[in-house]
Amino acid sequence: MGLLEAHAGLAGKVAAVVGGAGGIGRGVTLALARAGVDIAACDIDAEAARTIVPEVEALGSRILSVHADAADADALDGFYDRVEAQLERLDIVVNVVGGVERALFLETTREQNARDVRLNYGYVLDSVRRAVPLIRRGAQGGSIINFTTIEAHRGAATYAVYAGAKAATTNFSRALAVELGAEGIRVNLIAPDTTPASGSNSALYPDDLQRLAELGEDALARSFEMYIPQKKAPAVEDLASAVLFLASDLSRTITGTTLHVDGGASAALGFIDWPHGDGFMPAPLGGSLKHLFSGDG
Ligand SMILES: NC(=O)c1ccc[n+]([C@@H]2O[C@H](COP(=O)([O-])OP(=O)(O)OC[C@H]3O[C@@H](n4cnc5c(N)ncnc54)[C@H](O)[C@@H]3O)[C@@H](O)[C@H]2O)c1
Repeated sequence: MGLLEAHAGLAGKVAAVVGGAGGIGRGVTLALARAGVDIAACDIDAEAARTIVPEVEALGSRILSVHADAADADALDGFYDRVEAQLERLDIVVNVVGGVERALFLETTREQNARDVRLNYGYVLDSVRRAVPLIRRGAQGGSIINFTTIEAHRGAATYAVYAGAKAATTNFSRALAVELGAEGIRVNLIAPDTTPASGSNSALYPDDLQRLAELGEDALARSFEMYIPQKKAPAVEDLASAVLFLASDLSRTITGTTLHVDGGASAALGFIDWPHGDGFMPAPLGGSLKHLFSGDG
C-alpha cells in the first residue's frame, strides 16, 4: 500500500465502479482495491469484466464483477440489484462510463444524440438513484464521483452533444451535492482533458488516428507538449489518484466541485504553446506564423 492509499484510510469500505473493468475504470478499480476497498464493478466489455476479478483478488480485496451495459436502464438496475443483495454496505460510487465519437452536430442523427445523452448523463441519474439508498443504509455518509470532461467547460465543436450532456452531469452533481450535503454524502467530479485510453482514441476521426499511427509516438508526445502546460498527458493512474482523494476523508469538506486532472490544460483555456519560440498564445505569432503561412517554412 502506497502513501496515498494508507493516508486515504479507505480500508474496509465498498465501492461501485460503473465502467470499472477496463481502461480508466480498471485503473480506478485497482487503485481502490490497493487501498483495501471491496469492489462492485460493471462493464460492457465481457472479457475485461472477467479478467479484472483475479487482479483485484490478488490485491486482497473482494470483487463482484458484472457484465452489463450501463446505458441500458434494466441492465444497470440488474447490477445494483446484485450490489444490494450481495454487499453489506456501499460507501463510494464512481461513474466512469462516458464517451463520444466526433461529428458535426448537423451531421448526427437523433438516435446518435439520444445515445450520447444516455451514455454521458442519463445513466448517471439512474446510477445515483439506485446508489444513494444503499449508501444511506450505512448512515456514515459516502462519496459519489462522476467523470465529466474539459469539453463541459468550453465550446467544443464536433463534441456538441457530448459536451452538453457532460455539462448536465456537472451541474446535476453540484445540485446533488447541495441536496445530500447534510447527510455527509459528497458529490464531486473529475474532468480529464486527454488521458490515453480506449475512449480517447475512439473520440478521434479515423483519418486523425491513421495520421497519428503514421507519425508515431513522438508526434503525439510533441502535440501534448503544445497544449498541456505540464508537457505530458496525465496517465490513468493520475485519474485514479484523484478518485482516491475524493473518495476519502482527505477531501471530507470538498463537495460539489470539479477536479481538473489535466496537467494544466484547462487553466491555459485554449492558449497553445506554439513552437518556433512563440510561447503560450491563443493564435500563432512570429516564428509559427511564418512557418505555417509564409510558404517558405
Ligand atoms: N480518456 C480521455 O482522454 C478522457 C477525456 C475526457 C473525459 N473522459 C471521460 O472519462 C471517462 C472514461 O473515459 P474513457 O472512455 O476514455 O475510458 P475507457 O475507455 O477506459 O472506458 C472506461 C470503461 O468503461 C467501459 N464502458 C464503456 N461504455 C460502457 C457502457 N455503456 N456500460 C458499461 N461499461 C462501459 C469500458 O469498457 C471501459 O472498461 C468517460 O466518462 C469520459 O467521458 C476521458
